[in-house]
Amino acid sequence: MCGIVGYVGDEQAAPILLDGLRRLEYRGYDSAGVAVHEEGGIEIVRAVGKLRNLETALSERGLRGTVGIGHTRWATHGRPSEVNAHPHIAGPVAVVHNGIIENHLELRAELEAGGFTIASDTDTEIVSHLIHREIIAGHDMVTSIRRALDQVDGAYAIAVVSENEPRKVVVAKSSSPLVLGVSRGATYCASDIPALLPYTNEMVFLEDGEVAVLEPDGFAISTLEGTPVSRRPRKISWSPVMAEKAGFKHFMLKEIFEQPRALEDTLRGRLDREGADVVTAEVGLSEDDAKAIRRVILLACGTSHHATIAGRYWLEEFAQVPTITELASEFRGRDAVVGEGDLVVAVSQSGETIDTLMAAKEAKARGAKILAIANVNGSAIPRMADASFYTHAGPEIGVASTKCFMAQLANLLMLSIWLARRRGTMSEGEAGELIEGLARIPHLIDENLKATHETISEMVGEFSSARDVLFLGRGLSYPMALEGALKLKEISYVHAEGYAAGEMKHGPIALLDSEVPVIVLAPQDRHYERVCSNLQEARAREAKIIGVTSAGDAQTQALCDAYVEVAPTHEALSPFVTVVPLQLYAYCVADYKGTDVDQPRNLAKTVTVE
Ligand code: AGP
Repeated sequence: MCGIVGYVGDEQAAPILLDGLRRLEYRGYDSAGVAVHEEGGIEIVRAVGKLRNLETALSERGLRGTVGIGHTRWATHGRPSEVNAHPHIAGPVAVVHNGIIENHLELRAELEAGGFTIASDTDTEIVSHLIHREIIAGHDMVTSIRRALDQVDGAYAIAVVSENEPRKVVVAKSSSPLVLGVSRGATYCASDIPALLPYTNEMVFLEDGEVAVLEPDGFAISTLEGTPVSRRPRKISWSPVMAEKAGFKHFMLKEIFEQPRALEDTLRGRLDREGADVVTAEVGLSEDDAKAIRRVILLACGTSHHATIAGRYWLEEFAQVPTITELASEFRGRDAVVGEGDLVVAVSQSGETIDTLMAAKEAKARGAKILAIANVNGSAIPRMADASFYTHAGPEIGVASTKCFMAQLANLLMLSIWLARRRGTMSEGEAGELIEGLARIPHLIDENLKATHETISEMVGEFSSARDVLFLGRGLSYPMALEGALKLKEISYVHAEGYAAGEMKHGPIALLDSEVPVIVLAPQDRHYERVCSNLQEARAREAKIIGVTSAGDAQTQALCDAYVEVAPTHEALSPFVTVVPLQLYAYCVADYKGTDVDQPRNLAKTVTVE
């Protein structure tokens, strides 16, 4: 989704804004622009396409000034074009915006009737004219922004500069994310933390309904109604190096290889191996609460939703608590039954996905307790939740989520064990065995990563021209099959379906012929024999079989056209190892085809529109 950056200080603003935008590229965009205060007034430079086009335009134009705002646009209203790119100028103000103004058509008609000329098709330009109209009425910059925002419905994070008050950037937010950064002599804003990491790790999260005035020596926050808000910066532990490629060809590959570390950091201090228990006060439940939970509802989107399906299987088996998974976008507005006694676990890498955020808010309003599982400290979902159980995967830059998925699995499994121990549904022996196994997973993944990558790189040439791919799994391998298919679709643009292996004969088997590779997840668990029968059924239709098998499983491997081995684990832990070859398969196919792996077309890292 759109990315915003802002800078006010003593350095040249344009290079800082461009650098910040580069660090936000992963959010997805199709045009970009900056506005800088120069001596004669505000100048804007905008370009369609990749940031290198903006960079060329900037070097031709040579903007000079120490206050400015920048934007990467992911088109919603109006096609990607220079005129639709942000910033949008109206009178003395320039505005960048992330979000959607829902009543923009009505406001456009009103502004046009009042003599304002609107150049673009965007909803954002409406905001700049609304602010301008208030300035014409004699208000200062902040008051004009407040009064303008009072007229809009929808989601926004905006940053504004004005020729009338040239040493300020003013920002405001409702629903869309915005973080401020503070360093000596400079203040920054951005849609996301990685944009600011090279400059500061002292950050402040703006809340909905707040406005902040940024000046070189600090910031002042107030509500839209004008009440001052006091908030101190917090130190973010991520380092700028964590958001670099570190010699890997793509962020996605780096993040796949970082999974052992991400998992170790997420498990650190939370596994009590001697006591056969999980140590976490973070879930915010007392022992009595844990026993009294009537039901768990797992809310998420996309990859995070796939993690919750594994979470459901663990919660039901281990904690014996009725659990459902809900696509957050489908949960809202259908009058789902939710209320007291329900524990709603909202799972989100970014912590900002609007569907998950709004669904969790709806559940909270109806009396459910909300537990957030998120990777970004202080993001919107943890902020609205009753408790937060963070994953510690570090910043994830590739649009296709990998290491955060792995860390989400870990948290969902730890939550299941924690609840199971409190509800008396898991013995010390069982818990001990599982915890021991979980603690060994980072090492098992690490040991096999390089070889798995090599095996898959060698095999993809044979399969990469396939137009359709089917992924099959049973039990805990089913959500991994869904995830494998999503990864392949996202970055290689190959049509793929994840299916419960037992469902294949109820429909998708009709698709099979010698042109369709079928990736079968066949770890040696309780479903093994039946999955092998499904594999045989696909083989009988001449499909090409790629097996994900336990190491040394010669019997299944003999039935496959190609196979990858995974380390044998406790059967409840198989998702941690089986998903890795699927991520690598998607990566290698995409790399073979030469697609834009880290910024696939049409996708955004953080989805802040409904
Ligand atoms: C993952 O590869 C996807 N890009 C996407 O499905 C993502 O998982 C989804 O948008 C949810 O994001 P979140 O975890 O930040 O809420």
